[in-house]
Amino acid sequence: MAYHGRNLGLNGNVTTVMQGPKKTCDDELAKTRPFRRKAALRAEAEEMVSQPQTQLSTRRPQVEPAHYQLPATQPEPWERLAATPLRLSLPRDGRMPLVNLFRTDPVARAFDVMRTRVLQALKAKGWTRIAIAAPTAGCGATFTSVNLALSMARVPASRTVLLDLNMRDPGVASALELPARADMRRLLKGETSYLDHLTRCSDTLAVGLGAGPVRDASELLHSGTASDMLDQIQQDLRPDVVLCDLPPVLGFDDLVALVPRIDGVLLVADGTRTTSEQIRRCEQVLGADVPLLGVVLNRGRGNGAENYVV
Ligand SMILES: Nc1ncnc2c1ncn2[C@@H]1O[C@H](COP(=O)(O)OP(=O)(O)OP(=O)(O)O)[C@@H](O)[C@H]1O
Ligand SMILES: [Mg+2]
Repeated sequence: MAYHGRNLGLNGNVTTVMQGPKKTCDDELAKTRPFRRKAALRAEAEEMVSQPQTQLSTRRPQVEPAHYQLPATQPEPWERLAATPLRLSLPRDGRMPLVNLFRTDPVARAFDVMRTRVLQALKAKGWTRIAIAAPTAGCGATFTSVNLALSMARVPASRTVLLDLNMRDPGVASALELPARADMRRLLKGETSYLDHLTRCSDTLAVGLGAGPVRDASELLHSGTASDMLDQIQQDLRPDVVLCDLPPVLGFDDLVALVPRIDGVLLVADGTRTTSEQIRRCEQVLGADVPLLGVVLNRGRGNGAENYVV
């Protein structure tokens, strides 16, 4: 009886029944005690059920297993970018030729040689951000940006980020046959995260696409929010190279606005129409504030590999 009572005593109030007289109780009391104990238990159970949860939890504190309390581990930002593999179709009329589709083409070889030279130059200087622009429209700035990015992305364990900063006439999305996820303006204004904007095409290539023309493009590129966004992409994604496709140098001041935020410029000349005077004017526009990494001769004669200077 005492043993039985001690078990019940764990429930709190019932201990008072336990602590009553044991050996001195008379038969009458001994007969009534079991009923009193049951009644007390029932009352106790009813009382517990009717109490709010907060009170219940103070009676019997719940201890969470230690592993529930550990902070959740997040994949790194590169892994968190939306993944959309490239599904490139063979070029039709007007579709941009891409080196991934023509690996044996001399142009593909030319881009690989350019890639290696650019990567070596960047590594030697500790640089990452390159702007790619042409003197005038249609010379091949986007053609060069996209194909250079694809060539760089074939370097194992590297990371290339290609940003379409030609907000006058964005062309990277259609060249890569990808849907633009958001407006580049919103990204550069800090209204959307790069995590929601950039698309990861492979383990080695991520792209930031433009959905359409933006009126205040150069003001945006001047802004602190654009600068912060570029820094954040650099810091979080840790790319080896950030390539920025830009509008024509002689038509807009966008490249000049971006100059403080980049390490070097690749100028794309069209062998069929760009003049040496245009190249000279581009050099003047850039001034001494940013190094001209090289002049790429697009649509030049020859097998392609020798048609650039870096
Ligand atoms: N070497 C090339 N071989 C074949 N087609 C090319 C070559 N270079 C450019 N093109 C084509 O020429 C057109 C214009 O090229 P691209 O879009 O790269 O020019 P851009 O300098 O970016 O022009 P914009 O300033 O308007 O953005 C595109 O259709 C592109 O596919
Ligand atoms: Mg372009």
